[in-house]
This record gives sequence, structure tokens and C-alpha cells, in this order.
Amino acid sequence: MYQKAAWQVSLIGIGLIAAVYVLVYLSSGNPEEFGTVKKRMYAIRPYWFLALVTLGTWMSIDTLADLPYAATHGKAEQPADITVGVTGHQWYWDMDRTEIPAGKLVAFRVTSADVNHGFAIYNADHQVVAQTQAMPGYTNVVRHTFRRPGTYTVRCLEYCGLAHHNMTKKITVTPAETAAAPHSHAPSAT
Ligand code: CUA
Repeated sequence: MYQKAAWQVSLIGIGLIAAVYVLVYLSSGNPEEFGTVKKRMYAIRPYWFLALVTLGTWMSIDTLADLPYAATHGKAEQPADITVGVTGHQWYWDMDRTEIPAGKLVAFRVTSADVNHGFAIYNADHQVVAQTQAMPGYTNVVRHTFRRPGTYTVRCLEYCGLAHHNMTKKITVTPAETAAAPHSHAPSAT
């Protein structure tokens, strides 16, 4: 949802800037008018400045009021069902396990063996579902519950050298385990 909104805001912003350029280009080439325009602009300037400061102050207060953000949406207190150790290397991911059942709270304990990497998990629609920094000497924990089974892709989000783009790994999320496991004694289908 946020990604979609970010796209739309970016596109609108690009459009606005392009429109300003076109407008400036179209209305240029009239040197006689500069005097009056300059005078008018100088009159507007203090109000424009005040408006920008007001807008900036309001945006800062509005966006920073939530700091510090609750650790991973308040799930930090809940013990994880599964813990997965993750170490970033130039240029691959070392993970304890890559097969994870859906519906379990997973804590990824992420660190790095060399330089900073960005640990990000993408779903099949190329959306980031969880991400944190992989830093040498630190362990960052990112928690996530996979809802949909399928193949997820880990990618590196921090430029870390020549083969940065090669730092991918697949995570397979298997369908949620049923509590009663009624078929555990049935003969295998294979
Ligand atoms: Cu690791 Cu980029």
C-alpha cells in the first residue's frame, strides 16, 4: 500500500516539476516585463517564506511525533516461534534455514561477516515484507509472520561491492501446519 502511494506521490511530483519547467519555458523571452515581475515577486517573497516555514514545521511535527517507532509493530514482547540466524557475506546470505511454515512468528537475527548489507525479504509480487540492516558486530532482529505460502526472495538493499546484485536467496514458505496433524500416521503418498 505504501509503495503504491509512494509511486503515485512521486509521479505527481515529477509531473508538477515538469509542468513548472514547461511553464517557465513558455513564458520566458519577454525582458521588458522583468521589472514589474521582480517587484511583485519581492512583495510575495516574505509570505511565501512564512508559508514554507509553517508547512515544514507542521510536516516535521506530524511525521516525527510517532518517534521512537514501536519495535516491529509492537510484536517485540511476543516470543518468536522460529528463530533464523542470518549472516551477510560478500556476496551471499548464510541462513540457518530457508524453509519456514506459514503462520509462525519468525525472528530473523541478522548480522554481517564483513561490511554493511541490507537484508530484505520480497514476496512473489516483488513487495518488501520485512527488512533490516545486516551490520558487522551487531545483531538486528526483524520479526515477520508469513501469511501466504510460496517462494520469497531475500535481496541485499545496501550497496556492498561488485557482486551486490548477486546477494539473493530463496525462502520457501510451506502451508501452515495443522495443529492436530491427522495424517501423520497415514502412509506416504510417494
Ligand atoms: Cu550485500 Cu549489497
